[in-house]
Amino acid sequence: MPTRTELPVYQPDLYSASAIRDTYPHYAALRHLGPVVWLSKHKVYALARYAECKHVLLDDETFVSSGGVALNPVANRMGQGTTLFSDGDDHARRRSLLAHRLTPRALRAMKDMVEEQAVAVVEAAVAQRTVDAVEVAMALPMSVVPDLVGWPRQGREHLLRWAGATFDALGPLNCQAVRTLPASVGMMRYARAVVRDRSVLDSSLGHDLLRAADDGRIMPAECATMMIDYLAPSLDTTISAISSALHLFATHPEQWRLLKADPDLVPNAVNEVVRYESPIRGFSRTTAHDTELAGIPLPKGSRLLVLYGSANRDPLEWDDPDTFDIRRDAARQLGFGQGTHGCAGQGLARMETSAILRALVDKVDRIEPAGTPEWALNNVIHRLERLPLELVPA
Ligand code: HEM
Repeated sequence: MPTRTELPVYQPDLYSASAIRDTYPHYAALRHLGPVVWLSKHKVYALARYAECKHVLLDDETFVSSGGVALNPVANRMGQGTTLFSDGDDHARRRSLLAHRLTPRALRAMKDMVEEQAVAVVEAAVAQRTVDAVEVAMALPMSVVPDLVGWPRQGREHLLRWAGATFDALGPLNCQAVRTLPASVGMMRYARAVVRDRSVLDSSLGHDLLRAADDGRIMPAECATMMIDYLAPSLDTTISAISSALHLFATHPEQWRLLKADPDLVPNAVNEVVRYESPIRGFSRTTAHDTELAGIPLPKGSRLLVLYGSANRDPLEWDDPDTFDIRRDAARQLGFGQGTHGCAGQGLARMETSAILRALVDKVDRIEPAGTPEWALNNVIHRLERLPLELVPA
């Protein structure tokens, strides 16, 4: 059995600006080195292959989240009290408080509204013809999610910056995280004020939380963290999926023609987009006791980085993983996580992304690149910052 000193070691910084912007060669190198690789820069074990990532996500008793899923101790302390950073009964209690908001039934009630808004977004974009598709991708999540969470209308102009910063803070404590820390603290401060003033929108998820605190089902302090729990992960992620979809269809016109010819491929196309350009690069877990993974001994308290974006490109799992093909069965992709912490909002994210794709299929003949795309600099979110496209009307 290899000991830690015999483990393959990877020295490059996975969170440098260049590795964030061009991340796939690093993932390929990590996968090549082995199932478990020591990242010397961040002092963490990296899992870059599909099988080990899935194993760890499914064994939430050994690989726990309550020690935080970030790569730095500040965020791992600040995030305590969230669903994402909890285990066992605590996790189940937090998750069940809001589950009714995102069940298939609750989502069906939102479907018409989401689809109407998606059509309006696409019609406005087609009227402009040449667009920054990242702005197009922002419009739907920004109009759906803050209302669902009950965030007051005042203060929404900061939301995207705050939410992006919250993801940055979940990486290592590098310049990027330090620079954006005040914005994630700003979001927490604002959320606390919203809870204190009870200024959440009526009949919203935030309103459910206030009532749960009134009834003693949660601590009042949990209200603000749980609002952020649902707001922070629901914007950049979906914006990433929608803008990557637009980028991929612009650069793979044959795939766009397939989708236009058979719109029933939309749900699979969403899985393939999330597989191919996974919106979240990776989160971590810690071991609850001494254990082993792929024959590598891991002492209690070891931190492991689960790289969803790399698992989804692992050639041991996928045929031709670097090819974007909406006909492949991509349902087992790990971009929404897996197991007990699997994304609570994936039904909504799928609905929003599908609604935009269906409206595009209806209103757009061709999607053409109209400039050089730019990837955003964020420790955890993998998304485009700028994407000039021409939408040629149908
Ligand atoms: C394409 C869009 C999205 C992607 C790719 C995504 C991805 C993920 C991933 C990978 C996790 C697992 C975290 C872990 O393993 O520790 C997660 C958890 C979560 N997501 Fe999403 N997400 C998306 C959209 C959303 C939306 C729209 C919402 C809310 C409305 C949401 C709310 C959550 C919550 C609350 C959790 C924590 C679940 C738990 O710890 O039990 N996400 N998401």
